[in-house]
Amino acid sequence: MADTVGNLEAKDYGIGIPQKMPGFFLKGSGNLEWGMKDRLARIFNARSGNTVMLAFDHGYIMGPTSGLERMDLTIVPLIEYADCLMCTRGALRQIVPPASNKPISLRASAGSTVLTDLNDECLIGIEECARLNASMVAVMVAIGSQFEALTIRNLTTMVSDGTKYGIPVLGVTAVGKELTRDARYLGLASRVCAENGAHVVKTYYCTPDFEKVTATCPVPIVIAGGKKLAEAEALQMAYEAIDQGAAGVDMGRNVFQAEHPVAMIQAVRAVVHDGVKPAEALALYNELKNIKQ
Ligand code: R5P
Repeated sequence: MADTVGNLEAKDYGIGIPQKMPGFFLKGSGNLEWGMKDRLARIFNARSGNTVMLAFDHGYIMGPTSGLERMDLTIVPLIEYADCLMCTRGALRQIVPPASNKPISLRASAGSTVLTDLNDECLIGIEECARLNASMVAVMVAIGSQFEALTIRNLTTMVSDGTKYGIPVLGVTAVGKELTRDARYLGLASRVCAENGAHVVKTYYCTPDFEKVTATCPVPIVIAGGKKLAEAEALQMAYEAIDQGAAGVDMGRNVFQAEHPVAMIQAVRAVVHDGVKPAEALALYNELKNIKQ
């Protein structure tokens, strides 16, 4: 079982054959109970099957990142355009108006910053997540790093705790400096999250072979945006990810660091929910950026 040499290479990906989804519109979720499905249906749009999550949890490891210096000024105006907000409990209580009524993907693991070794994390208690009405809780999983075992334990603990309250868990595949963002690694990390009970997986887009990552992950994948790209490139990446089986984006810097964030999040929505092609989405961005917000 633990042989690392001589294993047969995965090859039967069934690309183009959708995973059967009896009982619910999200893959791998048909056997969940009502509360889990209700929370997931708040995050994912039943028409498109996809979601645009706005990630602004970066401060918990990076401090006042560009675009997040004053979240009250930069993030609050974006909230109405997001399907779900991915943030820390600090930011949630400090700047997110409760009346905005958006589902929350709560960052539920923390413990170290960019100044030391990332991913040496512990968990927020599930009662606190329930108190904050989290629709999902996000746990970092650092496969292949020195904190692999610790972070997988965090994931399994949160899945067991979340199940008691009907709160789904987002497994976030961490990418350390020394790890490669290729389909083989991201596919392994995503599958490990799903097998350990994650209901949704967040990972990075890669090329080539991202469709192998989504095909072999039995739950929905949302992609992180990663470092800021030109708007055209970010829209292209979102389009390719959806086209190759992602169920949405959990995007931060490519939205809030865009020259016109409100226009950018709307262009991303057009790609994710309506399958708008990248060139058309860029045209939409250029049109919207001239409208005074
Ligand atoms: C992930 O672990 C981070 O905390 C962010 O939520 C994630 O990287 C998404 O943000 P970005 O699109 O800026 O990469």
